[in-house]
Amino acid sequence: MSATLEPEGTYEGVPAYYFDNTAGGPVLSHQRRWDEIARTHSGFRSSIAHGYWVVTDGGAVQEALQDWRTFSNTSVTALDPNPKFLWIPEMLDPPLHTEWRRLLGREFSPKSIAAREPEIRRVAVEMIDGLRDSGGADVLDEFARRFPTLIFMRLMGLPEEDLSLFLDWVHNMLHLSYEQDPDRGRQLAAIKAVSAYFEEQIALRRQAPRDDLLSRAMSWEIDGEPISDRDMHAFCVLMFQAGLDTVPISIGWALYHFASHPEHRKAIVTDPSLIPTAVEETLRVYSFVVPARKATRDVEIGGCPVKSGEMVMLPLAVSNRDPERYEDPLKVDLNRKVSNHIAFGSGPHRCLGSHLARLELNVAVEEWHKRIPDYRIADGQGLEQTGNMYGIKSLRLEW
Ligand code: HEM
Repeated sequence: MSATLEPEGTYEGVPAYYFDNTAGGPVLSHQRRWDEIARTHSGFRSSIAHGYWVVTDGGAVQEALQDWRTFSNTSVTALDPNPKFLWIPEMLDPPLHTEWRRLLGREFSPKSIAAREPEIRRVAVEMIDGLRDSGGADVLDEFARRFPTLIFMRLMGLPEEDLSLFLDWVHNMLHLSYEQDPDRGRQLAAIKAVSAYFEEQIALRRQAPRDDLLSRAMSWEIDGEPISDRDMHAFCVLMFQAGLDTVPISIGWALYHFASHPEHRKAIVTDPSLIPTAVEETLRVYSFVVPARKATRDVEIGGCPVKSGEMVMLPLAVSNRDPERYEDPLKVDLNRKVSNHIAFGSGPHRCLGSHLARLELNVAVEEWHKRIPDYRIADGQGLEQTGNMYGIKSLRLEW
């Protein structure tokens, strides 16, 4: 599988390609492909499945994310304009979306998240200490995936012994390519399993509420009504997707970056005050989220004549790696002064978990480099990334 584009003529006067964002490829291939397309296109048509539009102008991507009246979240999957599932709050539009965000905002505020810092640091330190003497490890399996998943489970109030079950579900729900799962059977099976799991967790809390996010959310009212079990599921499934894959991917990119740029690694080890900027820069340069929206009316964006009901893909990389926006945009600059990247999105759906994610990332990078300051990518380690959200598949480091 490769990330190259195959031209397929034009569609409504706009260049069309067989473009498959679900296919994996070599490390950074998707991000580089976006750079290449953005140099010559402000948008194009993908002919895969039902077909959808892709905007590759950085400014237009951000505008679309902010214009929720025109670009609705009722579908956020470019391949599926009429999904049978609902994820809350991601697939709601204002004003209902605004109510959910108001309630959720308290749980994920900078203050609530800062209160968790000692616990988050303790978990990271224990995991890294457990690896330090081993001389090497697949750092995705042994650290980057386990650390934030465990924190997430504690936050939600879920039993920690289910950790490996969660890691398997994340893989089937989020990492399979169109070719590996053409009818999306494995993905849907995982969605069902996750839904059944949360059904049980919700039922347990209806019987006896606990001191956790799930129990608190079940006591909220939206539009003057208590939240139904169905909506609680839709919320849990979204939290699962949004909260479980993204931080592991980001830690993976950070460790990959410092392994392949020893001069940056030495700089942050010598001066840890560079770490917050280093984290923002890796989020920006290795941008891996590709949102999509459904048009509510005919509209032209990025030169694409979008019709009401059609899907539009909005890759964040084209904005975060935009030469009109950043000087030397592809370079991780440990002294960069501007940090207006949109790796956490933009507009009403901007990441709810950004404070938690930033804290986890900073803690991971700090504690890792205090304990394992010198490492390299193991010989023979293939460097491949997944499609959908671009994460490194496997990263074996040696120290
Ligand atoms: C580095 C890690 C993360 C990145 C890069 C990231 C990125 C994003 C992006 C780009 C969006 C917007 C999607 C869109 O516009 O369609 C989003 C939404 C969201 N994220 Fe994150 N995220 C991260 C971590 C987290 C974590 C740790 C949580 C929670 C535990 C979380 C919860 C959410 C939720 C609930 C939404 C939906 C918000 C809404 O619809 O209003 N995210 N995230």
